[in-house]
Amino acid sequence: MSESRPAAVIILAAGEGKRMKSRTPKVLHALCGRSMLGHALAAARDLDPERLVAVVGHARDQVAPEVARLEPQAAIVVQEQQLGTGHAVRMVTEAAGVIDGVVVVTYGDMPLLRSQTLQELVDAHRANGNAATVLTAKAADPHGYGRVVRDDSGAFLRIVEDADATPEQRSIQEINSGCYAFEGALLADAIKRVATNNAQSQEYLTDVLDILRGEGHPIGSVVAADAGEIQGVNDRVQLATARRELNDRLLRGHMLNGVTVVDPATTWVDVTVTIGQDAEIRPNTQLIGDTSIGEGALVGPNCLLEDTRVGAEAELLNVVSRRASIGAKATLGPNVYLRPETVIGDGAHVGCHVEVKKSTVGPGAKVPHLTYVGDATIGAGANIGAGTIFANYDGQRKWPTAVGENAFVGSNTVLIAPVTVHDGAYTAAGSAICEDVEAGDLGIARGRQHNSDGWVLRNRDGAPSAATARRARSGALAKGDIPEPPA
Ligand code: UD1
Ligand code: CA
Repeated sequence: MSESRPAAVIILAAGEGKRMKSRTPKVLHALCGRSMLGHALAAARDLDPERLVAVVGHARDQVAPEVARLEPQAAIVVQEQQLGTGHAVRMVTEAAGVIDGVVVVTYGDMPLLRSQTLQELVDAHRANGNAATVLTAKAADPHGYGRVVRDDSGAFLRIVEDADATPEQRSIQEINSGCYAFEGALLADAIKRVATNNAQSQEYLTDVLDILRGEGHPIGSVVAADAGEIQGVNDRVQLATARRELNDRLLRGHMLNGVTVVDPATTWVDVTVTIGQDAEIRPNTQLIGDTSIGEGALVGPNCLLEDTRVGAEAELLNVVSRRASIGAKATLGPNVYLRPETVIGDGAHVGCHVEVKKSTVGPGAKVPHLTYVGDATIGAGANIGAGTIFANYDGQRKWPTAVGENAFVGSNTVLIAPVTVHDGAYTAAGSAICEDVEAGDLGIARGRQHNSDGWVLRNRDGAPSAATARRARSGALAKGDIPEPPA
């Protein structure tokens, strides 16, 4: 493919995006795990250009660092004032000099545009030996876009902006996407001659096509197969529409790869998510960031997993997890909260209403009910009783707890860190354990029980409990019905 490698891709991202009504610059608004600018950069990178250039202007103190973070190799050109798309490209040719070879221009606010579509544009451009090739689309609602004007034979003439179009031109349904492939030397030359005698007094990049055609250069066009791809995002309604569409595209890809998605309408995935074959994603589930789902895993309903690795055939129900790793065949939920740096071992079980923070739960270990685990290491096969609390915080700092392999922590134990329950040790239910329990020992740390004989009869006379107790006590004595004494 190196033959079709463009010399440069220029991404225009200097505009303000007023209609977002946001403190965040438009191109930094995100969908499916990437900013719009991030999607544009990723599509550009897929073309493997020799140079990648981003034009920034409005809020460039925020936009330029995002470019540098995502594409450290990219050149950043500043357009101080946004005097039009042609002006933006002129800033690049003035800064970079003549770029020989194919120069692609695209926008930072077209997140649905696929790199394949840009590649088709470049391929058609080269195959036809064009000076410039424009990506167009047939739009159901062309309002607001530049229209593609053709002659009677259908040959490309020029692009007329909505603001400059005659009523007749406004009825044209073929629109300009704003993406082009140019011969770099011709672009650098023609861009200098773009005038501002139009309705918006701007330098229109589209005028380059007219200038080059007027000089006898061949201009071509490629009609995008899917008009949806070239939709720009101007406000948050369009952002939501684009997010929905991109999400649907991602889910379709996963389904065609052998993943069951029970309810695509309530399943959301980021572009960075991977899902193994025969995994099943159930309703109301959001997979974020560097999340990977192993083969045959069951995830959902109601899971939110961020930067989380889920092993093969694990089962998760109502799980919220951030920066955690879950082993193969582990079962989690309902209602589990995993916090960063948590590792759940293969075949482990983390049950109802359990929070685990920065801890390791060993293979086959069980934390089944109502437990907080913090800064702990739980050995393989250990059992943590219902209601156990790992008290890791003394009000000043956090301390670690270790529970050994096949250890058994009784229900409602408080493990007061730092403390170790060694391999195969037990703790009695209801204990507050603050001293280590050695291997094979039982740690008991609770008050001894004392029963006050007849307390209820003496202190609750007349209450149903006293009457029932009296009956029970005489029944236990005489095994017959003894009438209640008169009140
Ligand atoms: C432009 C096209 C129009 C096309 C439409 C597709 C021109 C003259 N018109 O119109 O034919 O149908 O896109 O969406 O090119 N930008 C800069 N600097 C500027 C101006 C714009 O970087 O000075 C960037 C914007 O951030 C945006 C993109 O260029 O990403 C398009 O700018 P915009 O003002 O939205 O162009 P349109 O009027 O929509
Ligand atoms: Ca626009």
